[in-house]
Order: sequence, then structure tokens, then C-alpha cells
Amino acid sequence: MGRIIISNVRILDPSSDRDKTGSIYINGGVFTDAFEADSDTTVIDGSGMTAAPGLVDLHVHLRDPGQTQKEDIISGCRAAAAGGVTSLLAMPNTSPAVDSAETVSYIREKAEKADAHVYVVGAVTKGLKSQEATDIDELYAAGIAALSDDGRPVENTVMMVNAMKKAAELGIPVTAHCEDPYLAGGKVNEGRVSEKLGVKGMPRAAEDAGTAREISLAAAYDLPVHICHVSTYTSANMIRAAKADGVKVTAETAPHYIMLTEDAVLSGDADYRMNPPLRTERDRLAMIEALCDGTIDAIATDHAPHTPAEKADFEAAPNGSIGMETSFAASYTVLVSGGYMSEAQLIEKMSCAPARILGIDAGTTEIGAPADLMLYKKEKWTVDPEKLHGRSKNTPFKNMTLDAKVKLTICAGRIVYIDI
Ligand code: DOR
Repeated sequence: MGRIIISNVRILDPSSDRDKTGSIYINGGVFTDAFEADSDTTVIDGSGMTAAPGLVDLHVHLRDPGQTQKEDIISGCRAAAAGGVTSLLAMPNTSPAVDSAETVSYIREKAEKADAHVYVVGAVTKGLKSQEATDIDELYAAGIAALSDDGRPVENTVMMVNAMKKAAELGIPVTAHCEDPYLAGGKVNEGRVSEKLGVKGMPRAAEDAGTAREISLAAAYDLPVHICHVSTYTSANMIRAAKADGVKVTAETAPHYIMLTEDAVLSGDADYRMNPPLRTERDRLAMIEALCDGTIDAIATDHAPHTPAEKADFEAAPNGSIGMETSFAASYTVLVSGGYMSEAQLIEKMSCAPARILGIDAGTTEIGAPADLMLYKKEKWTVDPEKLHGRSKNTPFKNMTLDAKVKLTICAGRIVYIDI
């Protein structure tokens, strides 16, 4: 493993309250004290760029095993690298679902050659069907880092409580896809836009009922829960109140919920359809407010690749949009350029906080820590789906001009993406 020096770079690391210009030294896969460059050292001039701890994405669908026409572990991690993401949490709604030790091992082994650290989510129920609980001890022994049935809610509340209890014992998070299955099932946010398009809407109450249930469980049993992809102001209000009451709840929202509203689906383009759906301007502003006041801890992408053929039919298309290559740039554009938060606060939401929630050794550039790093530059660029690095192109940020660009990503001391 080569040695790397990045000189003259602004080092922005909220984990140690650092914001200064200097050099970063990497050797043997970790950040080190200063050393002299030799013939084996890659020296990068970081002038004009900012270096931050590599991003940690708590919500990614890698589609592998079983749906590799959409994405696979290698292509998904290539997309991660291009977005500055060095650690990601891979959701279990693969085919088969991640409900056995064999599937956990398959993902972990394939990920050894990938351009990002892959943390595997084990399913709470077999096949994500909410009928039969998985063997959490067996999944944990195989190396899972979290539990979830994401893509679907855990319909059986008893199974959810048991998973929360077990996860707390093991010291791993449960991440909850909040959705009442009886209320859910529409195509876009229920309201003005669903009426205009004449399609069935997804009511905010479907998400909120799920959020309310998970918060009630966390409160009643004094157990942690992490709320996935928050999209409604009503859910944000519940999380805020719960946190004020000392409930052990953490939460994430996604870049599309702070950038876009339901108006985007009026285009009839299914790349703007995801679950939960894009909501109203009031919801969008509430997501920003909740990020700023600490109600929502993290920004995660819900990177959900689907093929162009699947996305061709607006109503028949599956839900989801890709996001890892644009998450930092889009969030920077809304939150930093928009004057809502500092760059340090953004890095906290996209690296330090998610690393803490997952309990992994990431989100820091301290000496001795794994050398996971991203460099970015304040620079305008326009998102061209064809130039993205993942296998699918279903981005809701297509043709948008964003204000920051990832220029270099280093994962475990290895340069995995460079655009300098
Ligand atoms: O839009 C979504 N896509 N929401 C989910 O919950 C699942 C995801 C997927 O796997 O495609």
C-alpha cells in the first residue's frame, strides 16, 4: 500500500473541530504523522480544495445478489467513490434477501475488492415478509452491522420489538422503514399532484403512522431506533418531540427531500418517483429545519438503482432513485449555498453523525484512524446521468447545476476516485 501526502489543503474535520490549511499524511491505510516523501509516495497538491473525512451513507441498495442488472457491489461502490462515500450501509432487500449467514458472507467477501467499506444490514424477518423472524445471532456471527427490513416495514410489531432488544444487546442499530402497509401503496404524494395526475397517492399518514409506532416502541422499552428517509414535517415534529423527551431515536433524510418537491413528478418522469415520495414545499423546508436544529441527525441517499427499461413507464416503474454520486454536491447546494448551514455542519451530517450511529471507526481524520477521505472543491457542474459511475442512471438531479464537486476519494489509504 503506497504512501500519500496531500499538501496545501484545507482540512475540515468536525470530529476534532479542525479547520486549517496544511498537509495530510497517509501510510499503511491510516492517517499518520508527517513524513518525508520518497519515490514510493504519491504527492497531491490540494490547493483550492477541502479535505474532509470520507462520507458515511446509512442507506444504500446495492442490488447484489440477484438484481445485478440494476447495480452490483462493485459498481455501487464505484458510484460511492465518485460521490466521496467511503462507508455505506447495504440494505437487505436483495434477491435472496439478506436473511441468512450465506448471503451476509457473499456480500462481505465480494465487498473486499470494492472501492468502499460495505456494512451489511441483516433482515429482521425472513424474505422481509414479516412472517418469520430471522436468526439474528447467526446473522451477527456472519458480520452484519445493523438490522432492518428496509424497502418494507416490519409489519409484526412483536418482531420489531424483539429485533430492537437484540440489536441493543449486540450494540448495532435497527433502521426503520416507517410505513403503514394498509395506508401505503400509491405512486406519488397524496394531494394536489396525485389528483392532477389522476394516480393513487401515498398519504403522509402512511409514513407518519410508522414513525409514531417506532417512536412509541423506542420510548416504551427505552431502546434505540433509527428512522429512515424522513420526508414529512409531521414525522419530523414527532422525532423532535421524542428527542426532547429523551427517547433514543435518531433519523436521516435524503438529498432529494431537501432539494425537490412533488411538483417534479408532474413531468411524468418516473426517476422522480420514490418511496417515501417527494412531498410539499412545507415538508421540504421542514426537512432543512430539522437537519439544522438536530432533529434529523444524518443525510443518507436511499440510493435505489433501477434500469431505464423499468423506469420507462411512469406508473409501472418501481420506486427509487440513485444518489451517492450527487449526495454531497446536492446537499452542499441546498444547505451551504442556501445559507442554512456551514460546511463543517454538512460534513457532520454526512460523515461524523452517521459513523456514530453505525458505531464504526470512520468520520474522522485523527492520526491512527482508517484513511477514509474525500476532497471537494467549490465548483459548478451539471449532472449528466450518462457520466455517472454506477450501473443505473435514474437520478432525480439530472441536468441540475450543483455547487460543489468531489475531486478525490481515498478509502483505507487507497485512491479510489480522482478527478483533478
Ligand atoms: O424508493 C424506494 N426504493 N424506497 C424503498 O423503500 C425501497 C427502494 C428500493 O429498494 O428500490
